[in-house]
Amino acid sequence: MAKELKTMELSNSEEMYKMRLVLLGPPGAGKGTQAKRIAGKYQIPHVSTGDILRENLSAGTGLGLKAKTYMDKGELVPDNVLIDIIKERLSKPDCSSGFLLDGYPRTISQAEALNQILADTQLDMVLNITVPDEELLKRLSGRRMCKCGASYHTEFNPPKIMNVCDVCGSTLYQRDDDKEEAIKNRLKVYAKQTQPLIDYYSNLSMLKTVDGTESIDKIFAEITSILDTYE
Ligand code: AP5
Ligand code: MG
Ligand code: ZN
Repeated sequence: MAKELKTMELSNSEEMYKMRLVLLGPPGAGKGTQAKRIAGKYQIPHVSTGDILRENLSAGTGLGLKAKTYMDKGELVPDNVLIDIIKERLSKPDCSSGFLLDGYPRTISQAEALNQILADTQLDMVLNITVPDEELLKRLSGRRMCKCGASYHTEFNPPKIMNVCDVCGSTLYQRDDDKEEAIKNRLKVYAKQTQPLIDYYSNLSMLKTVDGTESIDKIFAEITSILDTYE
């Protein structure tokens, strides 16, 4: 990226600036799937607020237990909780040279809080992955997760052995919010509370839209071509 120029001014002890990205898209659009690949290729931390909340839940923290009551119904966890989480996470040293946000911001007030947290720096790009609702429903109801973080789909991205993780051999499970009723509510909540961010970032000329109905490999190729030509 053009930002590499900045490395000339940095001493060896300072890390090269990479990029600050947001992945936007409805539940099941493939944010997590693409984020893992982007983070690997560009060596930036993948910050998923959904994963942070689920980690808190499995660790049995107060935050996790509170969040679960919202997540299981497919509702958003309150803004103030998420803003605190993201402020804390972005203050860690690994985010100083860039990051990839997945699942944050999800409301206009979360986006405004992010601007404040970034202070005199700003986002480089918001990648919006679009997929129609019927397809999202199929993707989410067939999704299977592993405790190591790997994610599969019974039909579209199956593991080599049914229900067993290719990476670590553990048994796969279904997310509690991947039940039909919760999925339908997540799609409604997305349309009402998160979709306004498309116009918000478009008005700031930060938005790039990616067709999320292609294969996982094709979408990744499209994203890398966008990122590689970004100046
Ligand atoms: P979160 O974990 O962020 O869930 P989400 O936004 O609903 O999105 P998903 O993780 O379900 O989908 P994804 O886009 O990552 O798709 P994936 O790659 O897995 O949030 C969960 C909850 O936490 C929220 O409902 C809320 O309660 C709370 N929360 C989190 N952040 C919050 C915030 N900022 N504010 C308030 N509350 C917050 O792919 C889906 C499936 O499709 C997989 O099976 C995958 O294998 C498959 N797939 C992926 N790509 C393709 C493809 N191209 N073709 C075919 N199949 C594909
Ligand atoms: Mg996800
Ligand atoms: Zn695994």
